[in-house]
Amino acid sequence: MSAETQKQAAAEAAVEKVQPGSIIGVGSGSTVNHFIDALAASGIEVEAAVAASEASAERLRGHGIEVRDANSVTGLALYVDGADEINRHLQMIKGGGGALTREKIVAALSERFVCIVDESKRVTALGDFPLPIEVIPMARSYVGRQIVRLGGRPELREGFTTDNGNIILDIRGMDLSEPIHRERELNNLAGVVTNGLFALRPADELLVGTDTGVQPFTAA
Ligand code: A5P
Repeated sequence: MSAETQKQAAAEAAVEKVQPGSIIGVGSGSTVNHFIDALAASGIEVEAAVAASEASAERLRGHGIEVRDANSVTGLALYVDGADEINRHLQMIKGGGGALTREKIVAALSERFVCIVDESKRVTALGDFPLPIEVIPMARSYVGRQIVRLGGRPELREGFTTDNGNIILDIRGMDLSEPIHRERELNNLAGVVTNGLFALRPADELLVGTDTGVQPFTAA
């Protein structure tokens, strides 16, 4: 079974978690695209969605699903999003698509975070996937030097601007064995908007598409 088929299976399983008439949070990426399409095909009518990227908002609207601004809601029952890596504590690296800041905001607004992935995303230790951080452009060099001081190798994501008008540095080689500590530490650097570690607020449930069906997990 291809990764794409596994993503689709996980996405379809997440649709079953959606309460008709609710306002849901929707992340971004190829797995979430399957979720949006499966939600539309399911006939489940949601009141609206809060989207974590312009691309997801456009796809939702394309299916006739209303998109609301995050400021217009006080909370969301459910957030569905993918991940680039996820460990057994359901801590993640996200931001491969560059939408990490809005994803973190919508996740923070949500009571329940359901993460949907193909099985290649499950890891024993976070860090093979380069950790993205969103940085205010004028802080690029300063933050880059601080990352080196912390043991990482930052690389500017060439030709990419986030939905918020900022740059992304992808960090390789940094020790992420204490993800909560590292998430806080990176957030404290002046000029860092968000980093792609989702450890302070991990997922609540993981749905993994595999060749033998969808496996659900909660945090170990
Ligand atoms: C987007 O910025 C990311 O956080 C995505 O959630 C992540 O990259 C997963 O993307 P795919 O579903 O395309 O693998």
